[in-house]
Amino acid sequence: MNTPAMASLRFDDHQPTLSNLHDEVISGLNQRPRAIQPKFFYDETGSRLFDAICETPEYYPTRTEIAILANNINEISDHIGTDCLLIEPGSGSSQKVRVLLEAIRPHTYMPIDISGDHLLTVAKELLIEHPEINVHASCIDYTAPINLPAYPENLRRVAFFPGSSIGNFKPHQAVSFLSNIAAMVHPDGGLLIGVDLKKDPSILNAAYNDTEGITADFNKNLLTRINRELNADFDRQQFEHRAFYNAAKGRIEMHLISRIDQTVHIDGQRFNFSAGENIHTENSYKYSIDEFKALACQAGFEPVRVWTDPAQLFSVHYFRCAAAAASS
Ligand SMILES: C[S@@+](CC[C@H](N)C(=O)[O-])C[C@H]1O[C@@H](n2cnc3c(N)ncnc32)[C@H](O)[C@@H]1O
Repeated sequence: MNTPAMASLRFDDHQPTLSNLHDEVISGLNQRPRAIQPKFFYDETGSRLFDAICETPEYYPTRTEIAILANNINEISDHIGTDCLLIEPGSGSSQKVRVLLEAIRPHTYMPIDISGDHLLTVAKELLIEHPEINVHASCIDYTAPINLPAYPENLRRVAFFPGSSIGNFKPHQAVSFLSNIAAMVHPDGGLLIGVDLKKDPSILNAAYNDTEGITADFNKNLLTRINRELNADFDRQQFEHRAFYNAAKGRIEMHLISRIDQTVHIDGQRFNFSAGENIHTENSYKYSIDEFKALACQAGFEPVRVWTDPAQLFSVHYFRCAAAAASS
């Protein structure tokens, strides 16, 4: 095994600028229905609140996905192999990769996240826990094409995309995101991806409406962030968290609903909200196993294996590049 003598920590900072946040928020609030991209949830507080959501009894995806990874670790590591470049877009607290690292022993782990301070803290922790693995962290917005920082060219590349973050994209956007990932891991790489399954809507609705109100706090933290970073005056008390399963579209929708007629100022601009008007803040699409396989195939992947939990709440798929599948 080609273990580096002394592993390194690298941090590349391409965090979106304040003007990105400003322009996207203003344009999202000027469109109808109003919408703000979920990537803006994740300042340092947002990253911490997401971790707290994962601990709530209602939020089954995290513990279910971790159990699937742990229960099938031998088979998963057989597919991934050792000594690869393991790339994780949207790595957050890198909680799930910790289940894999011991077995896979990648040459380099490359966490990618938009939440820069949190990413750097986690990268340092990982290097202490695994001094034998290089950690090259990149603060990048993965909705734009990802330009990987320099790395040894001979490493096989495998992408890890857990948390059903793929569900935050509309299906056609998911195909284009996965096509970028396929190009990144081409020709002999793979993709290990966690995908939340369609199920009884009462389970889904509970997961996004925890009784402690942490998901509501996470949703409203967007307003706090905009107030702080864009000199705005949203009153959090006058917006309500609403999340529900839209069966026709196969997705959870998350919104902030204005409780009253009100005017909000952002950087000197006025935005009028009528009572009941919404800001759409997140989608989380749910897929059957076959629906997701079909979507990944459109992006240039070939299904290899899928694992689920006994209650069929969540799925973890392994795909390889279609060209590699055809030539092997
Ligand atoms: C739902 S959390 C999932 C975290 C982790 N992968 C897991 O499974 O628990 C989404 C993560 O992706 C990051 N993220 C969201 N949008 C992003 C974007 N456009 N570019 C890069 N990172 C993003 C967030 O900061 C957050 O850490």
